[in-house]
Amino acid sequence: MGDMGNNRNIVILTGAGVSAESGIDTFRDGGGLWEQHRVEDVATPEAFQRDPDLVLRFYDMRREAVQTKEPNAAHHALARLEREPDGDVLIVTQNVDDLHERAGAKNVLYMHGELLNAWCTACDARSRWTGTLIDRPTCPACGAPALRPDIVWFGEMPYRMEEIYGALRRADLFVSIGTSGAVYPAAGFVRDAREMGVETLELNLERSEGSSWFHETRLGPATEIVPAWVDELVDAG
Ligand code: OAD
Repeated sequence: MGDMGNNRNIVILTGAGVSAESGIDTFRDGGGLWEQHRVEDVATPEAFQRDPDLVLRFYDMRREAVQTKEPNAAHHALARLEREPDGDVLIVTQNVDDLHERAGAKNVLYMHGELLNAWCTACDARSRWTGTLIDRPTCPACGAPALRPDIVWFGEMPYRMEEIYGALRRADLFVSIGTSGAVYPAAGFVRDAREMGVETLELNLERSEGSSWFHETRLGPATEIVPAWVDELVDAG
């Protein structure tokens, strides 16, 4: 096992493309979630105020679906990279599924929240949640029927930004996997990383919107190009 060449501290940003081959719909590809639902109807605080049943049902369906899916070779390869003794790997995910964790990754930061969490708007507690919210269950911590999906909606601030920028500042390599680069602040990480002098690599099915910012881009399905990249890194160490 090597020291991963010169790239010891690695920050990996993942998006829907890393879970696509597990059978979880992406947002912006043909047939993606945002073709089936308007963002403003299901993924904003205003939508939740206006039509809570619609929003709760949307996330209940996704929560149920994700529990029938399995991590794929890309999730497993990233978990393997994390286990390398000499490297410091942080996975920053925009995904709200738990597939990185189920593949064995430990260092996962959910910047857009987690489908398998419920967040109490009365007492602020977060609870592991595998069932439905449409039936207005009570919060396990305070008993109020005030649970919402623990999902960062449009117009809300992504989680743990300070930690993410701190990790980028310490990074030698920033890798973006399976994300279209359409949603900020995540889409801006590559530029931030470059300004900090960090090497940048994109792994995606097709060029993302910010593709030209990366030092290197490799195109292909995540289940092929992610394990290949991890093998390369581990062998080079
Ligand atoms: P998108 O649906 O915008 O982009 C998915 C990207 O993955 C695209 O660039 C695809 O080309 C690529 N892709 C698809 N299949 C792939 C495969 N098998 N292997 C590799 N790449 C593949 O999803 P995100 O960029 O993750 O936010 O979207 C970012 C955010 O927008 C989401 O977190 C969500 C959404 O609105 C919130 O809900 C807050």
